[in-house]
Amino acid sequence: LVTMYEYDVIVVGAGGAGLRAAIAAQEAGADVAMVTKLHPVRSHTGAAEGGINAALREGDDWELHAYDTMKGADYLADAPAAEALTQESPEEVIQLEHWGMAFSRDDDGRVSQRPFGGLSFPRTTYAGAETGHHLLHTLYEQVVKRGIDVFDEWYVLNLAVSDESRPEDRTCHGAVAYETATGNVEAFTARDGVILATGGLGQVYDHTTNAVANTGDGVAMAYRAGVPAEDMEMIQFHPTTLPSTGVLISEGVRGEGGILYNDEGERFMFEHGYAKNDGELASRDVVSRAELTEVNEGRGIEDEYVHLDMRHLGEERILDRLENILHLAEDFEGVDGLEEPMPVKPGQHYAMGGIETDEFGQTCVEGLYAVGECACASVHGSNRLGGNALPELIVFGKRAGRHAADEDLGAPRVPVGRTGESEPGSVEPPVELGEPWAAEGAVADGGAAADTAEAVVERTLERERERVERLLERDEGTQHADIRAAVQRTMTENVNVFREESALKEALVDIHAARQRYRDVYVADPSSTYNTDLIQTIETRNLLDIAEMITVGALAREEFRGAHWRKQYQERRDDEWLKHTMVSWSDGSPELWYKPVVLEGEAGAYEPKERSY
Ligand code: FUM
Repeated sequence: LVTMYEYDVIVVGAGGAGLRAAIAAQEAGADVAMVTKLHPVRSHTGAAEGGINAALREGDDWELHAYDTMKGADYLADAPAAEALTQESPEEVIQLEHWGMAFSRDDDGRVSQRPFGGLSFPRTTYAGAETGHHLLHTLYEQVVKRGIDVFDEWYVLNLAVSDESRPEDRTCHGAVAYETATGNVEAFTARDGVILATGGLGQVYDHTTNAVANTGDGVAMAYRAGVPAEDMEMIQFHPTTLPSTGVLISEGVRGEGGILYNDEGERFMFEHGYAKNDGELASRDVVSRAELTEVNEGRGIEDEYVHLDMRHLGEERILDRLENILHLAEDFEGVDGLEEPMPVKPGQHYAMGGIETDEFGQTCVEGLYAVGECACASVHGSNRLGGNALPELIVFGKRAGRHAADEDLGAPRVPVGRTGESEPGSVEPPVELGEPWAAEGAVADGGAAADTAEAVVERTLERERERVERLLERDEGTQHADIRAAVQRTMTENVNVFREESALKEALVDIHAARQRYRDVYVADPSSTYNTDLIQTIETRNLLDIAEMITVGALAREEFRGAHWRKQYQERRDDEWLKHTMVSWSDGSPELWYKPVVLEGEAGAYEPKERSY
């Protein structure tokens, strides 16, 4: 039995980017549905704490914000995308305010702004230390008000993409999803476009600020449908996470004046010269390396973490602007932030890379878009500035929604797919990469050797139903949790803040072994309702691809840029490496290639400079 849902635009995922995209598409006249594995207000956007950067005040402007963003990115971002972010984020913040978002305010009634790392102006707007929560609820209200259909707790298994040999010739006609409540697998046809807004991939690490749902599903699905993944090696480690859980302690604490100390009571960011001007408010890559250097050189506390002290800010200010932090420190670490410093260490927080898109969210596959953390537009390059993720969600969500609904937004300036400027890459892996066995049959995992949209969608549906049946049929083998834990362990040990060739190779060996074990995976829970074991098994397959893409990109990039530190290569090497890492799924194996960075923007060319804070 085939239930075929049909809409103009299908949005996959319902965090900030997905919600904003759905609103924009609907406002542009499209019939829109959201298909999401979580209820919208359970999306990980709700965990965002610190704020939204927007040049709103006198003395600030979008050019300054763009300059900070390009410098923060260590010049690996594409200027047209970074400028779109900084030009449009003020109007998006004002739009949120008009939709009723409860921003923190100054005494004169204006929306407050605070300093954040790597910013030359205090331009981070916020709602206490729970900005994402308010953002999510504000946007969801608008979705409800507009009557947009939301299929929540529907897990998208695959994209329905046609099967031409070049990805640039393919079209995405929809997606196939598993309804958690019933176990049914159904098809969604998109007349105009599918927008992936599936969020982060932090579950590839075991110490992460990311929710358990952040398994990189969108990146993995797009990758297997032939869309290149860009700059995947660029992973952000946030400097202040709680040691025992990875729970985020917002950069807002340092923005408000919080101080980092080592075991000797030294304010090491200044005293050990890591960031002589900006100290604790240097960009995140700088602060995370500094903390780990302190620990590695014996000045860490319990050989593991440093202290973040906010006591001097006073109870009134803390309760006014950072109350949520008190709860998190108490609930997850048993520490009273009013009385004691909080233990913190770096933890995986964000993926700068993702599905390659232009500045309207378009991928190289016709009708397929990506926005938010799963996408790489590319705004953040090799290091994202704190407070630049939430504006990305709303600015690019809006752009992609409009574009998918057929609004003419002009010609993109960030090229996607292979062009004459692409150059081949190579890497010497210690083991065979990818799933060569997956090459049998279709070129793209989500593809179909048929030409009508309906046939492509039906064929994908058939395959996904078979996949689910196959997984449920087996009654012995390896459970996904073992495979997932092995991948998380090796990524955390070997592909972290400090990276060395031998460790990166070790990670590839471990990922290869995990992939082999996945061939034998089985789902212990046979039920057809709320079978989270099945969903996590499918997510784990996505994590395998994600881990491999990150590690291959990291091994190949022989330089130190932004968040990517290499022991053997201690300098940024613009002559050779001022280029984006691209990974394409090629007959089951990852193929590396490179494309130029676009440094020319409206404000002129962003010439790479020495980056210090
Ligand atoms: O530290 C934070 O509040 C996180 C902000 C961000 O990642 O942008």
